[in-house]
Order: sequence, then C-alpha cells, then structure tokens
Amino acid sequence: MNTRPLLKLLSDGAVHSGESLAESLGVSRTAIWKQVRKLLDKGIEVETIRGRGYQLAAPMDLVTREGIQQALSDAAKRQMALRVYDQIDSTNSDITRRWQDEERGLLVTVADSQQQGRGRRGRVWQSPPGQNLYMSVGISMNRGFTELDGLSLVAGLALLEALTINGLPAPALKWPNDVLVEDRKLAGILIELQGELEGAVRVIVGIGVNVHMQEAESVDQPWTSLDLGAPEATWRRDDLAACILNCLVERLSVFETSGFEVFADEWNRYDAFRGRKLMATSGDLSGIGQGVDGKGNYLIDTGDGVERIYAGEISLRVAR
Ligand code: BTN
Repeated sequence: MNTRPLLKLLSDGAVHSGESLAESLGVSRTAIWKQVRKLLDKGIEVETIRGRGYQLAAPMDLVTREGIQQALSDAAKRQMALRVYDQIDSTNSDITRRWQDEERGLLVTVADSQQQGRGRRGRVWQSPPGQNLYMSVGISMNRGFTELDGLSLVAGLALLEALTINGLPAPALKWPNDVLVEDRKLAGILIELQGELEGAVRVIVGIGVNVHMQEAESVDQPWTSLDLGAPEATWRRDDLAACILNCLVERLSVFETSGFEVFADEWNRYDAFRGRKLMATSGDLSGIGQGVDGKGNYLIDTGDGVERIYAGEISLRVAR
C-alpha cells in the first residue's frame, strides 16, 4: 500500500474530509481509512476530527517526485531521469546501481533519508528522515579526469546560487565545495568517479543540504541548517531540489564547453578563505588564502611564494 500520495495531500496540515481525499486519489473512503491506519503504524501523527476528516498533527515538508518534477526547468526536465525514495542506503550508491542497470542520461536520485549516507574523507553524513535534502546526480561528461576538480567547484556554485535564489543571505564557499553560513557548514558535496565509458567520464555529484535539522548527534564540526541560518524564509525541499538541479544543468553545459576557467572569478567572490590565515589539516603547510586558479586549484601565499593545492590532496582550515 503506497501511502505517499495521501501523505502529500495531508502535508499542508489542514483538515481534509475522507470524501475529498477518496475523490482526489480515486479510491474508496474505506481505503483512505486503511491508509490512515498505516500512517499511524509508521509513527506519523494523523488526527481524526469527528465529522470533518483527517489532519496531520503538524504540517510536513515532504520530498516527492511530482513536486520536484513540477518545479524543474524545461532543460532539466528534458535531460533528467528523476527517482525519489523514502529511504535508501545512499543516493550516490543508487546512481551506481542505475548505471549498472544500463540507465542513461542525467540520472538524479533524491531520498527523504539515508541509512548509510557518506561524507568526504570516509565520514558518515547524518541523514535523518523528514529534515534535510539528500540528492545525487550521475553525469557522463566529455572531459578528462584532470578537469573534474573544476566540476566539483561548479557544483558548489550551482548549489550556492540555488540557496541564494531561495532566500539564504550571504553564504560562502569553503574550498573545494562546502557551503558555509557564518563559518558553519550548511551543505557538502561528495564527488565519486565511476571510470570512463566510450570516452566519457562518469561522475556522481552527491549533495547534502541541512534544511530543517535542529539538532544532530556526533557531527564533529560547527554546522547549521537553513531553518537555523535563515529562519525568515520558508524552505521546501522539493522546490530547493528542483532549483539546485536547474542551476546545475545550466552550469554543466557551460562547463562542458568552456571548462572551469569561466567560473573562477565568480567562485572567488564567495571564497570563505580569501585573505585568511589557513593551515592544512596535516599541519605541514600554512599561509594566506588567495582564491582558486583557472583549474580550480586553491592558492596559498606561504610567504615564500604561492603554493597551488589540488583538490583531494589536502584539506584546509582557518588557523586560530
Ligand atoms: C561532505 O562531507 O561534505 C559531503 C557530504 C555529501 C552528502 C551527500 S547526501 C547525498 C549523497 N549521498 C551520500 O551518501 N552522500 C552525499
């Protein structure tokens, strides 16, 4: 029994009569009642209001395929094959499986929760249900592996653009591609490579954005969420997912023809590290942040000259 369409109708938090729900979903009132029982079994609080119908205890911001699809641009709709899950191991792993199943095109997987969400450097990415955005995009690109550092920075820019359009004031980018608000991590990107096929490189861009999260256990760095960092805006995961995808599709086509160079100035305007004293987490390099070059490498003025840092090679932090 798929209870998602019913949950979507109830998600606004208003009272809905059994009759109107039955009519909208093309099923009987008894079927609606059974689905409500099922929602209750899953721990979702649905109240029965005598003589009036059903109502959720609180409105819910669901992720739905229809909601995302509706808000996609024509270009994104044309190129993307979108799947949405309630729960999954990792949306990045789903893209790998979809490629193994011979799916082609720009593959997108979004999930309400992940059981094995992965972060960079082998970290766990907290992925509780009902709260955040977990999304992966599988891209086949006619550019060599050497240019993929630039791709991850372009993905960061698309993410930042979408967050800004939706009302986040003053976000910054922490090289290579975290989005920060007041030096707290709001979003991260995990890039995974899947080798080459017919001359095209296959890359998975996994995006995690903290949307409604108010508390988290065992996150080992300062973090924030959209609700905490920009409470005056209303954050809806479907709209945000679609907007990120729209921005990404536009930028990918530019990246494919022109590479990272044309994005470097824009990236540098949002650089959280620029002019700050930095240290490599390994401790063997320090200096002042100078922004990225045309290939997406990070530049540090060590006092003895400018060092070029390649993504994945080293992790940087602000020196205290
Ligand atoms: C980071 O450590 O900053 C990267 C976090 C990336 C998390 C996202 S959530 C969707 C996708 N699926 C995963 O398992 N990880 C990425």
